[in-house]
Amino acid sequence: MSLPIAVLVSGSGSNLQSIIDRIEEGTLDAEIKLVVSNKAGAYGIERAKKHGLPYKVLLHTDYRSREAFDQAMVDAIVEAGVGDDGLVVMAGFMRIVTTIFLGAFENRVINIHPALLPSFPGVHGQSDAADYGVKIAGCTVHFVDEEMDHGPVIIQAAVPCQAGEDGNVLGPRILKLEHRVFPQAIQWYAENRLNIEGRHVNVRVAGKPCAGQPTVDTEPKTYALVWPPLEEGF
Ligand code: GAR
Repeated sequence: MSLPIAVLVSGSGSNLQSIIDRIEEGTLDAEIKLVVSNKAGAYGIERAKKHGLPYKVLLHTDYRSREAFDQAMVDAIVEAGVGDDGLVVMAGFMRIVTTIFLGAFENRVINIHPALLPSFPGVHGQSDAADYGVKIAGCTVHFVDEEMDHGPVIIQAAVPCQAGEDGNVLGPRILKLEHRVFPQAIQWYAENRLNIEGRHVNVRVAGKPCAGQPTVDTEPKTYALVWPPLEEGF
């Protein structure tokens, strides 16, 4: 059975689109049971409509407390068919969730953030990194806990950053990678390959039940991104 997922959005929904595209092409074994937006007019909802997906707009401003809003989201998601066997995916959802939400979906909520956490949490990850002058920026997919942009990390991806580039230049470069790593993380979850051990998430090798094995050859020469590049001899 495909992994039942709910996708939460607040804006453009390009990450939602990357999930839809992967499902439609058959590389992501998930079924979107509900798209929820907390913002009226979020383009993510238009994307859901275009693909015939169930959606709901729940305006947080209509609720008397964070908890009441979270409970309404829980009810909608459960009613849509994302139960104990499902996953909640925050795809540009710009709200902190409370224990009401996290208690209903324990270790079953993931988020994408456009920075290499724990650096640059918050709503301007890309421009904060660019303004700081980092040479390597990137994105992080992580399980969600009570703190903002904080839970155990599933996957991170890095891109080079040039002097003088701002968030407007860096943002799209990071976003392209987001569209690859987020569906990958969801597929790992769908294949039941993610083990959380404290702050550490172990990605099991496909087909092997035991924990503790890397998914890739971790030889630094093969996988390191050094930017600006090392010159001959170093
Ligand atoms: C993405 O860059 C996502 O990483 C970011 O919002 C953007 C949503 O874009 N999320 C955060 O900053 C969370 N702290 P999208 O609506 O086009 O997917």
